[in-house]
Amino acid sequence: MCGIVGYMGNHDAMPVIMSGLKMLEYRGYDSAGICTIDAGAVEIRRSSGKLINLEQLIKDKPLSGTIGIGHTRWATHGKPTVANAHPHKGGGVVIVHNGIIENYLTLKDELITKGHEFTSETDSEVVSHLIDEHLKTSESLEEAVQQALKHLKGAYALCILSQKDDKTLIAAKLGSPMVIGIKGDEYFVASDMPAIISHTREIVVMEDGEMAIFRNGGVKFCTTDGSEITKASRFVDWSPLKAEKNGYPNFMLKEINEQPQAVRNVIAGRLLEEIGDVYLEGMNADDSKLNTFERICLVACGTSWHAALVGKYLIEEQCRIPVDVEIASEFRYRDPLVSAKTLVIPVSQSGETADTLAALREARGKDAYIVSICNVVDSSIARESDGVIYTHAGLEIGVASTKAFVTQLVALYLLTIRLGRANGTIDLAKGQQMIVALGELPELVKKTLELDPQIEEIACEYLTSCDAIYLGRGISYPIALEGALKLKEISYIHADGYPAGEMKHGPIALIDRDMPVFVLAPNDRHLVKVRSNMEEVITRGGKVIALCSEGDSETGRRANFTLTVPWAGELLNPVLYSVALQLLAYNFAILKGKNVDQPRNLAKSVTVE
Ligand code: AGP
Repeated sequence: MCGIVGYMGNHDAMPVIMSGLKMLEYRGYDSAGICTIDAGAVEIRRSSGKLINLEQLIKDKPLSGTIGIGHTRWATHGKPTVANAHPHKGGGVVIVHNGIIENYLTLKDELITKGHEFTSETDSEVVSHLIDEHLKTSESLEEAVQQALKHLKGAYALCILSQKDDKTLIAAKLGSPMVIGIKGDEYFVASDMPAIISHTREIVVMEDGEMAIFRNGGVKFCTTDGSEITKASRFVDWSPLKAEKNGYPNFMLKEINEQPQAVRNVIAGRLLEEIGDVYLEGMNADDSKLNTFERICLVACGTSWHAALVGKYLIEEQCRIPVDVEIASEFRYRDPLVSAKTLVIPVSQSGETADTLAALREARGKDAYIVSICNVVDSSIARESDGVIYTHAGLEIGVASTKAFVTQLVALYLLTIRLGRANGTIDLAKGQQMIVALGELPELVKKTLELDPQIEEIACEYLTSCDAIYLGRGISYPIALEGALKLKEISYIHADGYPAGEMKHGPIALIDRDMPVFVLAPNDRHLVKVRSNMEEVITRGGKVIALCSEGDSETGRRANFTLTVPWAGELLNPVLYSVALQLLAYNFAILKGKNVDQPRNLAKSVTVE
């Protein structure tokens, strides 16, 4: 994973690189580092922990120079120590790397026999030594890089500097994202556009197997085997959104509270109430195209996978089209049954998740039609899809997804209306009814947010619990999974979600008087069964916190705590229950004193496999 930044121009490299890293911190925040070269002198600063530590270090020991590279790390190989932080230096070659070098151990052994001394446990360090080794027999840094890249297996986005050739910056890409910004004779390299577009809107998107060589105020593009290529730049017209807390103590709480507006944004301009349909502007598939699909396959990871599971309930039930939901990291390794008659829908907040992107490419190789559901505009997944439904949640900084998830649910609901209207399974009246329900949703989300004081009380009561169980049936089951994931991510309390009816097949053995069980019990067609499952827990001494619907005074009577959630209709209740469970996880984490925006070991965008 990680974020990389490179700069060559006529200004001080250090502030450009540091501001770029700040924008990429969502890709990892285990450690960070920067290198500049000034008059042949290589200066490196590295620190473990968040970027703020590196900022402090640089304040004490500033560096100069108009050429430099930087890195923010999410550890894969080697602990998040200073020694493992990038940039890595092998001989006179310095690199920053995003990706994984899969054959690094073999290469490392070979290089050690040639006299190279390694100082880190990372896979990345091998790249600097390998280039340094090839420099001995190459005529230029460019040639040495090309020779070295031939030996690498895995994925990389690399920025490379050399002490010997201190006026050259090289960038190379295979499998990890990279964009380049151009502003006259100034050049910016980064893992993602937000690190660049405060400097320039002229962007070149690098493709796999390509390199850029920046020298003497100019750039040359070539393939990694040396053939020169022409790359067109394009103008990016969106603005980098500013990350402001607006008076909230952290981004997560701000983003949870932004959800009424986020829901408004995802539906804005899309509801065609009169014809009981929706307009999904970027989908690029009319009714006749949509009706060619025999199956739908939703692919995603983590929270987005939970949204995809809700999508299955919605689409299968309303549109009668078979839907598979795939964990993206599994999908590509099992020769999935996908054809030109399959609509593949990658669901991703960031649009950069490596597993989801790889699944998309696998589906592309099998001729599937691809319509992604993404939040980040122009992200890799959005760019590589045939169509895209943007969720318009806005910038999400908190690592634990909240408003992005809720808007994914709404986007899937919109897609359901569109598919159902296209194949006739949703008639005019039903379409209109679904749209009216959607129009009421933002206010209901707002009302759900008002449950916060009661939710805080629940968190106080069960704060010492080491485990928790979340139960749901039907469309509430994926929300139970998401509730459990939220709790794990930010409070570090172990939690699992189960279909309520599955408890008796094993997990019920976990029930004792220390086990809080959060039961999602909306007043829908599953309620009677859910009540029985609740009784099974109560009988065994478990503590039940029932999340019931407004107007239902019966279900919670035997529970230890009842939380009354507004009613949005069976298909939209998942949105409201998600909001309640986000607040629950949030309160647990805050009461435990955790950093909710940057939980340990996580990163916002997971760009390694
Ligand atoms: C969300 O809370 C998680 N941090 C994580 O599971 C996330 O949903 C997953 O990594 C997928 O990310 P994406 O939506 O950006 O593809």
